[in-house]
Amino acid sequence: MTDQSMRGFLDMVERDFPDEFVRIREPVRQEFDMTSMVFEFEKAGRTPVIQFENVEGFDMKVVTNLAGNRTLLGAALGVAPDALPAAYRERCQNYIPVETLDTAPWQEVTFEGDELDLTKLPIPLHFAVDAAPYITAGQLSARDPETGIDTTGFHRLMLKGKNKLGLSLHSRRRMYEFHRRAEARGEPLQAAITLGIHPIHYMGSMAYHYPPGVRKLEIIGGLFGAPYRVARCFDSDLEVPEGAEIVIEGEILANTHEPEGPFGEFTGYASYRSTENVFVAKRISMRRDAILHSVASGTAADHILISSISREAEILNTLQRNLPNVTGVHVPVITAGGLMAIVGMKKTAEGQARQAIMAALGTEFYCKCVVVVDDDVDIFNLSDVMWAVITRTRADKDFVFIPGAMGAILDPTSDPEDHTLTKLGVDATKPSGRDFAERLTIAGGQRDRVRGIMERAGFKL
Ligand SMILES: Cc1cc2nc3c(=O)[nH]c(=O)nc-3n(C[C@H](O)[C@H](O)[C@H](O)COP(=O)(O)O)c2cc1C
Repeated sequence: MTDQSMRGFLDMVERDFPDEFVRIREPVRQEFDMTSMVFEFEKAGRTPVIQFENVEGFDMKVVTNLAGNRTLLGAALGVAPDALPAAYRERCQNYIPVETLDTAPWQEVTFEGDELDLTKLPIPLHFAVDAAPYITAGQLSARDPETGIDTTGFHRLMLKGKNKLGLSLHSRRRMYEFHRRAEARGEPLQAAITLGIHPIHYMGSMAYHYPPGVRKLEIIGGLFGAPYRVARCFDSDLEVPEGAEIVIEGEILANTHEPEGPFGEFTGYASYRSTENVFVAKRISMRRDAILHSVASGTAADHILISSISREAEILNTLQRNLPNVTGVHVPVITAGGLMAIVGMKKTAEGQARQAIMAALGTEFYCKCVVVVDDDVDIFNLSDVMWAVITRTRADKDFVFIPGAMGAILDPTSDPEDHTLTKLGVDATKPSGRDFAERLTIAGGQRDRVRGIMERAGFKL
């Protein structure tokens, strides 16, 4: 049975991918060191899990960058990296009810009242622009006040005091709606923040499209291929992962707004836009030797890659219902994840690329640009994609604009008042039914031949 805890994942990485597990024993500062080290690794082409054993001024270890690496995420699901979107799509539709346990390791130590102090956690300050240290790996859970169905998802949490966190529900999805419904009744929303989850929970929490009666915890079970093991909170009927490191129970206040942000967001910009909500903590419980999980913020792959995979899966799902000749979808991390999608297709008729553009843009409102290419173009190689865009399009004919469409609030080009923006579709497929310029190619056998010569000349390929 898979160990469903964050520790289970860390053990797997250290055992099976030792080069992808880095321990930093030298003291590091709470300010900037942890997130900026993730960016230095990325600049060197690496995305290892990093565990900081010694954060100055704190006893607790911090682990980051658990989700920036397609190989490790594939290993977590037991599939090859390029099979991730398809595996994600299939397993997310196999809902498995949770298994509720009476006790959990995170119940070992618990603090409430005057003893509760969130400032004792080594919460990183990620960027110089950030208003305060931010919890970035807090899975917030709450129930729909009308149906009782719960959800769980990451939301940035600004440290505001011993028992207070600021948050922004800008994605305007289920949690935003649950809070709005509680507020309409004049009530706060009971909520719990879980820190220290397996990346499969992270993946499941990014599922967007599923029927209203389903619990995200059941989708996570589908991804694990087994019931997700959860335990009940002390102060509410919320259920959180049994394997968690830390659980913070409390509520999101009704009709209360306080300044929140700025925060270095996935777009690569400081975000000053926020719904400015307030979470008040009532209790914090943790393992005796709890490790703090932090997601590297900004444009780090740790922040973006799982959203990319879940959007690849959702868009593929929509497109292949109607266009079986779609060969793949890539949502690149470097274009801030969900803002852009590249679709590969084996075009058989004119107009299919535009069908794909409309369907892909309609699947996910974050998506503002869709590029469709022929299947001789490698959608995961952005140089190849740009080559196709520049050599296979005529701007007046192949670029489609959709003004006034719903965009992501955090997209700096979205209208500051109503958050709309102009979406773009690029048909970079060759015209069908007539000859087009012949692409230069080097045959596989020829490549093998010169690679052999190069290797014998001492070049490591
Ligand atoms: C690391 C990370 C941080 C996130 N932070 C926020 C946030 O601060 N506010 C927000 O509304 N969405 C945030 N999101 C996106 C939501 O978690 C995501 O849209 C989720 O699917 C919402 O779930 P729900 O529809 O069940 O509420 C974040 C996602 C990730 C991966």
